[in-house]
Amino acid sequence: MSVNKSLPHRVKLVDVGPRDGLQNEKQPVPAAIKIELVHRLQNAGLKEIEVTSFVSPKWVPQMADNAQVMAGIERREGVRYSVLTPNMKGFEAALASQPDEIVVFGAVTETFSQKNINCSIAESMERFAPVVQAARDAGIYVRGALSCALGCPYEGDVAPDKVSYLAGLMKQIGVQHVGVADTIGVGTPRKVEAAIEATLKHFALKDVSGHFHDTYGQALANTLAALQLGVWQFDTSVAGLGGCPYAKGATGNVATEDVVYMLHGMGIETGIDLDQLIDAGVFISQALGRKTQSRVATAVLNKRSA
Ligand code: HMG
Ligand code: MG
Repeated sequence: MSVNKSLPHRVKLVDVGPRDGLQNEKQPVPAAIKIELVHRLQNAGLKEIEVTSFVSPKWVPQMADNAQVMAGIERREGVRYSVLTPNMKGFEAALASQPDEIVVFGAVTETFSQKNINCSIAESMERFAPVVQAARDAGIYVRGALSCALGCPYEGDVAPDKVSYLAGLMKQIGVQHVGVADTIGVGTPRKVEAAIEATLKHFALKDVSGHFHDTYGQALANTLAALQLGVWQFDTSVAGLGGCPYAKGATGNVATEDVVYMLHGMGIETGIDLDQLIDAGVFISQALGRKTQSRVATAVLNKRSA
């Protein structure tokens, strides 16, 4: 199959299932299951895994086992492990786990910033700045999340100028890469283009990724819109796990399986083995006692059992 010249030939996927996916689970998920999920993802060929977050256990109890999970992973060469760190306390705790990358997560709207991290956008930058500095001094790569870039659960529609503003603040404090995040999955392709173009005012294309939740079923279309702009890095979640505790009703990220199927179908390489990925999704779905949210996994599993 010939590849459309304007599209990337290879895409990097970060599986955020162990973090974004599991942070929202009401039932406790044992650390051993999280560790096994990370192992299965790396066996399937994932080279980037967002493992956990070093946030307050009072706010997000599900991530309280962060250090245990990081310590339990058998690291594989060539695989990078990232964690969320909202402040110095989180960063200092994360350091002992030797992450390859940390994520500071800001919001495009004031209300979401308050609800998610209990501070204003300006205050969040004051908290992130020393974290970014310390991480870079320690040789740890720094990613930033631009939450609510396509809509906010509290403020509704979001103007691209606000996305550009937050991206500019992230750049000023030394963040190296930003993810344009549709936290509640309300975005549509043209809005995605506008949000990415707003981000590209401050970051090079190679330093921008898409993080699309699939609440309204738009995430694959949004991924394609981003690809057409040349974006080649995306956060996805095995089995479509996830949501954010501070964005009620928001479902998981686009399923990694669905994105891999789409990309491979378009002749774009990911380095991921779809069958093994589906098995990783089956593993975590069974552990949680529910069906996978991935349409591709559902189709393949039906075919396997036919
Ligand atoms: P705060 O209450 O403003 O913080 O919370 P504080 O500095 O005033 O500290 C209060 C207490 O929390 C103290 O404990 C601190 O020690 C403790 P106490 O004295 O009461 O016993 N504390 C911590 N404990 C562990 N680790 C820490 C930490 N920091 C303070 N790092 C804070 C501020 C950010 C910590 C809090 O609001 C929080 O943890 N929020 C959780 C946010 C979160 O995890 N949200 C979900 C992830 S973001 C997301 O899903 C979006 C994303 O996927 C992109 C997208 O889709 O949009 C990334
Ligand atoms: Mg998210």
